[in-house]
Amino acid sequence: MNAPTGFEVIAPASNGKPPAITVRDRRFGRGQLLERWWLNGDPVATAWFNALSATFPRGETLFVDAVRAFREGAPPQLAGEIRAFVKQEVNHTREHLAFNRAAAAAGYDLAPLDARVERLIGDVYARPKIVWLAVTIALEHFTAMFAHEFLRHPQHFVGAEVEQTEIWRWHAVEELEHKGVAYDTWLHATRGWGRWKRWRLKTVLMLVITRRFIRNRFRDATDLLAQDGIAGPRAKARLVWYLVGSPGILRRVFPAWCTYFLPGFHPWRRDDRPLIGTYDSANAATAPG
Ligand SMILES: [Fe+2]
Ligand SMILES: [Fe+2]
Repeated sequence: MNAPTGFEVIAPASNGKPPAITVRDRRFGRGQLLERWWLNGDPVATAWFNALSATFPRGETLFVDAVRAFREGAPPQLAGEIRAFVKQEVNHTREHLAFNRAAAAAGYDLAPLDARVERLIGDVYARPKIVWLAVTIALEHFTAMFAHEFLRHPQHFVGAEVEQTEIWRWHAVEELEHKGVAYDTWLHATRGWGRWKRWRLKTVLMLVITRRFIRNRFRDATDLLAQDGIAGPRAKARLVWYLVGSPGILRRVFPAWCTYFLPGFHPWRRDDRPLIGTYDSANAATAPG
């Protein structure tokens, strides 16, 4: 595989017809003790992924509520995709609750992170339902960007325990598969709006969500590092380097983040079917026969 540059060609819409959504009801790491620094013995990488995982149960519940709130009157194909989306997200929540319990058993206190997420999501629920959906499409763009990055560049998980790698790969492939569903629900829900009104709301919320996402996940990860006895400016500098230097997850997804603001944006303007196909063929090859 070529070295990642962080810049990739975004396929035209005609190349990115969404695939059928498959619910892969898998379970990971049950009854297994999680190493405290499960990602390659690296406390910084572990803190980042643990911080992401801590947000999923409440975040995904919001996504499900948001798309369900607008499924009335959806065309049959979209209605079916919404059902599959909900099943996938419910399974992700179940597995990340198990993952979070394992992180807690390894010694981390995730309660302060969960309280922060609960407060932020509570702010969203206090707004009109169309705001829930606009927040959901912004966060689903984040998950799709990360999912693409993790599947395209497996080196993010080099040195991780197998079950811990597998949960992230499984989650990533299903995020790619359903990445257009909340967005199509949004287009359906706002079908009576003008383009400018639709673009303005989704843009404003993407900017707000991006700021909060980066600030709060950074705070979450530094909280976890402090629990490892790694604190102060040096800890923050290590985390910044991890996110924007090497491997630089945030730097690498930046071009895809920018595409969200382009007129005519749709998640399937980037064709992720090859990544989904590669995952499924590798899994079929290793599945017990
Ligand atoms: Fe998910
Ligand atoms: Fe999702």
